Amino acid sequence: MAAVGALQRWRAGGEFPHSVARRAGAVGARAAVAAVALAVAACGGAVSPEWAGPELQASAFCKQPLDEVERRVGDLLARMTLEEKIEQMHGAGPKAARGLWPTPDNERLGIPGFRMVDGPRGVHAATGNATAFPVAIARAAAWDPALEERVGEAIGAEVRAKGGSVLLAPVLNVLRHPRWGRSQETYGEDPFLVGSLGVAFIRGAQRHVVASAKHFAAYSIENTRFRVDVQVDERTLREVYLPHFRMAVDEGGAASVMSAYNKVNGQYCAENEHLVRDILKAEWGFQGFVESDWFLGARSTVPSVLAGLDIEMPRPLFYGPALLRAVESGSVPLDAVDEAVRRILRVKLCFRLDSDPPVPDPEVVESARHTRLSLEVARRGIVLLTNEGVLPLDRARLRSLAVVGSLADQPNLGDDGSSEVAPSYAVTPLAGIRARGGGVEVRHVPALDAEGTAAVERADAAVVVVGLTKADEGEAQVSAGDRKGLRLSAADESLVQAVASLNPATIVVLEGGGPIVVEPWIDAVGALVLAWYPGLEGGNAIAEVLFGDTNPSGRLPATFPRAEADLPPFDSELPAVRYEYDHGYRYLDRHGIEPRFPFGFGLSYTAFRYERLEIAEPVLAPDGVQRLRVTVTNTGPRAGEETVQVYVAYEGSRVVRPVRDLKAFAKVFLEPGESRAISLAIPARRLAYYDEESRSWQVEAIVYRASAGPNSRELPLEARFSVAAPLSYR
Ligand code: BGC
Repeated sequence: MAAVGALQRWRAGGEFPHSVARRAGAVGARAAVAAVALAVAACGGAVSPEWAGPELQASAFCKQPLDEVERRVGDLLARMTLEEKIEQMHGAGPKAARGLWPTPDNERLGIPGFRMVDGPRGVHAATGNATAFPVAIARAAAWDPALEERVGEAIGAEVRAKGGSVLLAPVLNVLRHPRWGRSQETYGEDPFLVGSLGVAFIRGAQRHVVASAKHFAAYSIENTRFRVDVQVDERTLREVYLPHFRMAVDEGGAASVMSAYNKVNGQYCAENEHLVRDILKAEWGFQGFVESDWFLGARSTVPSVLAGLDIEMPRPLFYGPALLRAVESGSVPLDAVDEAVRRILRVKLCFRLDSDPPVPDPEVVESARHTRLSLEVARRGIVLLTNEGVLPLDRARLRSLAVVGSLADQPNLGDDGSSEVAPSYAVTPLAGIRARGGGVEVRHVPALDAEGTAAVERADAAVVVVGLTKADEGEAQVSAGDRKGLRLSAADESLVQAVASLNPATIVVLEGGGPIVVEPWIDAVGALVLAWYPGLEGGNAIAEVLFGDTNPSGRLPATFPRAEADLPPFDSELPAVRYEYDHGYRYLDRHGIEPRFPFGFGLSYTAFRYERLEIAEPVLAPDGVQRLRVTVTNTGPRAGEETVQVYVAYEGSRVVRPVRDLKAFAKVFLEPGESRAISLAIPARRLAYYDEESRSWQVEAIVYRASAGPNSRELPLEARFSVAAPLSYR
C-alpha cells in the first residue's frame, strides 16, 4: 500500500521519478561522492558456455582474487552493525544526484555506495550529454556480438566517466509482441539472439562498471507493468523467457540482475522465490546482487528478503526501518540479511569500488571514438527490406532528390523514459543526405502541398521518411507506453502512397523500435530501408546506405507480420495474461503463416550463394559440441557482409518442439567472388528441452536437422546428426 501511495504522490505532483532524476541532474542537486572502480581487466572470457557454477560465476566478474575478496567481505560483515547491514540494502533516493541513483556510503568502514544509472542506448539524459547509440533492437539487427561488446564497453566507460558504478542495462526481455512499448530497448524475439548480444554487452560494460541484466523476468507489456500477472508454464518459462538471463549469468558474468515489475504466476518478481531464490541463485549459482526495479518494484519486506531481493531501489519503502523491525521481531532471519550484504559487498570489492574511484573524465563522454562507433553500429543495423532496383542511388546519374516528410528533418532517437539519452548533436536523415549527396540537388518536402507535389514529381527519386516516434511507443508512465497497433499512422500511410503515386522511384526510410505492418503500401514503393532509432550519427548512416557507400547488412531480429492477427494476442489492459510456448517466428512457423519479412531477413547490394553445410560429428556425444561449416560465396558485384544462420529441427522428440529454432549464427565479410567456409558451433546442451516433471533439462537421443541459410524462411542447406545417448542436467 505504501508503494502505491508513493506512486500516487509522484503522479499527483506531476512528477515521475525519471523527471526527478533529470532535474536533479540538471541542477546538480547533490554532489556524487562515488567511489567507483576502474575495472581494467577483461571479464568473463574464460567461462564455459556450459553451467559455470558459483565459483566461476563470481570469478567471471571479479577484478581481483576472489578468495581475498571473500575474506575481506567476511571481515567487514563481522564488524558491521545490523543497522549498517540494512543500510547496504536500499537506495538513498528518492532522488538521483547528478542523474546517478545512489545507495548509501558507509564512511566508518570505508564502503562506498553504488551509483546506478541507465541505460541501454547510452548514459541517461539526466547526467547531461552522452553518446546516443542506436537503440538495442537496431544493434541487434547487426547480429554481431563483437560489435555489441564494443558498445557495452563504450557505454560502460561513459558511465564511469560520469561517476557511475552500475549500468542499468542490458534489457534482456524477449520481444514477445511488437506492441510492447519497450521493444526498442531489447534485442528482439529470439532467446538465443537476445542472450548472445546480452552476454557481449555485459562483457564490454563490465570492463568499467557493474552491468545489471534486466528485467527478471517475463516483462513484455508496458501499460500494466505494475500489476499484470504473467501466467506461464514452467517449460515455457525455462525455454523462452529465461535462457538469455542464464546466458548473462553463466557466460556474461553479470554481477547484477534487476527484478521486473510484473508478477509471474501470481507473485511479483521481486518477491518471487521461485525465480530469484530457486532458479537464479540456487540453480544457476548467481553470485552477484539482485535489485528491485524502481517505482513499485519492491512490494513487501519479509517475502522479498526471503525470496532473495538484495537491494530495494531507489529508496527504502519496505527495507530500511521496516526491515530492521522484521529482523528484530524474528520474521526475517539474520542469515538472510547477511547473505544479501555478502553479495553486495562482494560486488563492490570485486569491482574495486573502495580502492579505485573513478576520475571524472569529460574526454571519454561523446569521444570521437564513441561517436564513430555509434555511426558504425547504425550503419550495420540498417536493414534493406525491399529493393526494386532503385537503390543504391547513383550520384553520377541522379540530378535531384526530394526528401519527404517532417521526420526527415528531426532527430528521432527513441523514447524519453529511462533509456533516454541527450547527445550534444544528432544528424537527421535530411542532414545526412545533404552532406553525402555530392552534386545532387536535395529538396526537403515537409508535407505534400501544391509546391511539394510538384517537387516530388520533378525529382529523379523521392525518399520518404516515416515511422514511429516517442509519441507512439516507449516506457509507460514516463513515455508513450505500448503501441496501439502495428501500422503506421494514417497520415504516414497516405503520405507514402501519395509520394509513390507521384514518383516511381520512391524509397521509404522507416524509423521505429520494432516491427511495423507495411501491407497497405509496400507494393507501391521502390525500396524500403529500415533505420530504427539510429542514434546520433543515424542520418549519416542512412545516407551512406542510400548512396551505396555502405552495403546494407542488417538482418531482422524480429518477424515483420503481414497483420497483427498473425501474432499471438497482446493485451495491455488485462490484469492477467497467459504466455504460451510460441511467439515470433516460432508462432508463425507452427501455424503455417507467411510473414511479410521473416526473422533473420535482410537484403544486400550483392548476392550470396550457400554451397555446403558440413557437420563434424554425425553422432554427437550428449555433452559434446557440434562443429559446423557453411560455405558461402559472394556472387554479386560488391563486397558485402552476410549473416549465416543455423536453425535446428527435432525429429521424433517426445515433446512438441519449435518447428525450427535458431541455434548458431556468424558474420562473414566477402569480396566479390570470394568464397569462405564459416565455422559455427552448437553445444548439445543447447538442444535440450525442459522437463517439468523431473525439473531438469533433457538432451534427447534423437535426430537433429540443422539447416543453414540467410534467414529463418530461406534455408537451402541441411544436414542431420544424432545425439549418442540422452543426458539430463539442471
Ligand atoms: C525501468 C528500469 C530502469 C529504472 C531506473 C524503471 O522504471 O523499468 O528499466 O532501469 O526505472 O530508471
